[in-house]
Amino acid sequence: MPKPSVLFVCLGNICRSPLAEGIYRHLCGAAHDDESIGSAGLGGWHAGDPPDPRSIHVARQHGIDISHQRARQLSLDDFRRYELILAMDSSNLARLTELAPKDSIARVELFSQACHGTQEDVPDPYYGAADGFRSVYTMLFAGCEALVESTGRDTAS
Ligand code: 4NP
Repeated sequence: MPKPSVLFVCLGNICRSPLAEGIYRHLCGAAHDDESIGSAGLGGWHAGDPPDPRSIHVARQHGIDISHQRARQLSLDDFRRYELILAMDSSNLARLTELAPKDSIARVELFSQACHGTQEDVPDPYYGAADGFRSVYTMLFAGCEALVESTGRDTAS
């Protein structure tokens, strides 16, 4: 079964996409340094920062440590390195589509479309309360489980 490289993308790379990366790595049993799985932000405001403490907390509550991750801004090379680039929401998707270079090898898709065949945004929880992070976690976990199944990634034992 093919195991595509996957990059999760949101706006800041501190709330949603680091959680998606951590959950997906966990479900795949992938090492922290497995570069075929990653995340990035469309903006560079938080480059070098750890994930938002609320994302770290909700992941930790489910036994997943994302505290070592550091935010980075998407680069055009990501389109040449990753086979699957998954946008957290439709606005992220529109921007990714604009940015994609001619020699991109990536399939650029909405996260929910790739996971469930639906058009559902993973809402930005940054300005909201903690329960926003819990519902984002639930959405991301369900999506990543479906993705692991459909991409044939080995699951963690
Ligand atoms: P994320 O959330 O895209 O899920 O990482 C955000 C984090 C920071 C900002 C926006 C969204 N910000 O504007 O700084």
